[in-house]
Amino acid sequence: MKIKNICCIGAGYVGGPTMSVIAQKCPDINVTVVDLNEKRIAAWNDEDVENIPIYEPGLSAVVSEARGRNLFFSTDVDEAIDKADMIFISVNTPTKTYGIGKGMAADLKWIELCARQIAKIATSDKIVVEKSTLPVRTAQALKNILENTGNGVNFQILSNPEFLAEGTAVDDLLNPDRVLIGGDIDNEKGREAMQALVDVYEHWVSNDHILTTNVWSSELSKLTANAFLAQRVSSINAMSELCEVTGADVNEVSKAVGMDSRIGAKFLKASVGFGGSCFQKDILNLVYIAKSFGLNEVADYWEQVIIMNDHQKRRFAANIVRTLYNTVSGKKIAMLGWAFKKDTNDTREAASIYVADYLLSEQAEIVVYDPKVTEEQIYADLDYLGSRTGEENRKSVKIVNTAEEACVDAHAAALMTEWDEFLDLDWDAIYDEMLKPAFLFDGRKLLNKKEMIDSGFKFYAIGN
Ligand code: NAD
Ligand code: UDX
Repeated sequence: MKIKNICCIGAGYVGGPTMSVIAQKCPDINVTVVDLNEKRIAAWNDEDVENIPIYEPGLSAVVSEARGRNLFFSTDVDEAIDKADMIFISVNTPTKTYGIGKGMAADLKWIELCARQIAKIATSDKIVVEKSTLPVRTAQALKNILENTGNGVNFQILSNPEFLAEGTAVDDLLNPDRVLIGGDIDNEKGREAMQALVDVYEHWVSNDHILTTNVWSSELSKLTANAFLAQRVSSINAMSELCEVTGADVNEVSKAVGMDSRIGAKFLKASVGFGGSCFQKDILNLVYIAKSFGLNEVADYWEQVIIMNDHQKRRFAANIVRTLYNTVSGKKIAMLGWAFKKDTNDTREAASIYVADYLLSEQAEIVVYDPKVTEEQIYADLDYLGSRTGEENRKSVKIVNTAEEACVDAHAAALMTEWDEFLDLDWDAIYDEMLKPAFLFDGRKLLNKKEMIDSGFKFYAIGN
């Protein structure tokens, strides 16, 4: 079976970049990305390709090559479903905020809506691909909905979780460590569907990097991969606290440990805590699944990764207050960076939000600079927490256009995101403009301690 038309439901951080790369690499396949969010689709179609809604290095070039040729962005969900042989579901699956599983389970409301829509519209056989990260055994629920509400056509359900990381999405998609495809391997039609998706990826990924498994293994592998990655960050962050009280340096420890080939060097960078839309949500979901099977020890084991991460964010903020003579009331604190990591404009679950919230509760005045995050987004993040009114947030938080401006007359600066440009700042000049003593808190262990002390700062870095 050769795929000619792909539809992807969800034009977000995963659907947008993933489909852009598929379209770029498969000129023989028409790819239509659809979304209910009209503003987002309009931005994907913006004449100026620099205005696409997601900032990712290299993405605008991929979009400009394929858009209008075989890559289309549209709000007409039904038409795209109707035409497609293969439909990717790439909608959001956030943590539930209500009812059973509130604060833990994945909210599958949008997934179910997609399945019902596909069932309603489809009048020819379709391969439905789970691209969203889903609890293990979701494919069964999708199958039930599709088969019970459809028009008698055949649906094959595949799991094809996405492993891209934001900030490196294009590179991750072009050179994936592996592509994982789960399907009904015991069935002829299931195997055909899997092969059809393998054929899509084989346009640019070598066959030995394409892994096929049963559908449950594929679904569970995605949650497992994120849990393992987050666990490494929490492990090194736990050691960062021990480093601070013993005189060890966490970067040195991390290097020494990571050079053991059995451990490896990646994901051992201590930080103010991991953020992003995936790690916390997926571990909470894993904990919920384990609990729902009565596996309490398994649940507790993974929950500790989140507990450690919350502790790391809180202790960074508490240390600022303690160091500034136990009060930040009325003091100006510059926050450099708001995104959850560099090279993205995504702020979901960013540590900066929680650190800012803590400092605001201590009556600090905050000034934020981030090279890619908009003012509107920063206020929306704080408003969403509901700790204070929108008006209060706007009164106590200002957003400026440069790091230098943020630091003028500040009592302290806190480096929250490891943007490269923070390495090139004129820290001597920044020091001159700050109130004295000028405190600098490096939540990313990015800056050179000796240089910062030589510039005059009272300097504090995670894990040192
Ligand atoms: P996102 O919120 O950026 O995008 C989801 C989009 O789906 C939104 O634009 C929303 O409007 C749209 N949508 C929701 N319901 C719809 C419907 N019924 N019809 C049409 N459009 C609909 O989310 P994301 O970051 O792209 O994540 C999507 C999925 O991929 C999640 O399950 C996530 O866990 C997973 N994932 C994310 C990343 C990442 O780095 N962000 C990486 C791997 C996997
Ligand atoms: C993650 C997974 O890496 C990716 O495979 C999955 O598809 C989606 O979730 P993402 O959240 O985009 O990707 O970014 P990632 O690079 O994993 O970073 C997550 C958070 O951990 C960031 O806040 C980052 O700053 C932090 N981090 C990462 C550390 O603090 N230290 C590290 O060593 C690595």
